[in-house]
Amino acid sequence: MPTQKQDEKLLMKQRSAQKALEYVKEKMILGVGSGSTVREFIKLLKKADINLSEIICIPSSFDTEAMLIEQGCQVGSLNQYPKIDLTIDGADRVDSDLNIIKGGGGAMLQEKIIAGAASEVIIIVDASKLVSTLGGSFPVPVEVIPLAKEFVKRELEALGGKVSLRKASDKLGPTVTDNGNIILDTDFKEIANPEQLEKQLNNIPGVMENGLFPKGLISRVIVAEQKEIKLLEKA
Ligand code: 5RP
Repeated sequence: MPTQKQDEKLLMKQRSAQKALEYVKEKMILGVGSGSTVREFIKLLKKADINLSEIICIPSSFDTEAMLIEQGCQVGSLNQYPKIDLTIDGADRVDSDLNIIKGGGGAMLQEKIIAGAASEVIIIVDASKLVSTLGGSFPVPVEVIPLAKEFVKRELEALGGKVSLRKASDKLGPTVTDNGNIILDTDFKEIANPEQLEKQLNNIPGVMENGLFPKGLISRVIVAEQKEIKLLEKA
């Protein structure tokens, strides 16, 4: 049985997802992120007063693709539709400047691609994801080619990170991403400059992508609180 707190959180996710629907229009190429909030968005998209056959969805993960198909959405690939109008995605942490950490679900590589390819990126979260500064409360997930694990780990430690290999829950050994890589969750105590750190991480040979999404990638964040919805926009 879900606790009252879990019910409240689900309700907040649904309200944030509902608000995001206002930005979805027919004829759009729509990037669709991953995670439980995005799953609520997909369910609402199916129920919305929109002709689903008029929207092409570009998924960011195996999980999202399966759900989009299950809900009767049209799925396309980024190679067919390289210019996305709008991407909707969730987040693990959002700071006061709208820098973001993503990758709790391990999908940050494809999520960053569909964010980068989109004219507009809207992030949907509940209020528990808001922090003043990134770092400490949630590690930065770093997707790494398996053969580079130990080398990358040392480089991340040299940057001040505390590294932990993400373990799979239903198999022995590491979590393997949709792209066949592993994830090094890296805790940086306080991230003073997310833009700089994002570049430093991606400069390490063997790193495919990391979960820092600097503010320049994000157009707005929809935050559902218990009683109201807040819209955070770029200054
Ligand atoms: C997956 C993600 C998710 O968007 C993020 O983990 C938030 O998930 P949820 O909506 O379940 O809290 O980045 O890689």
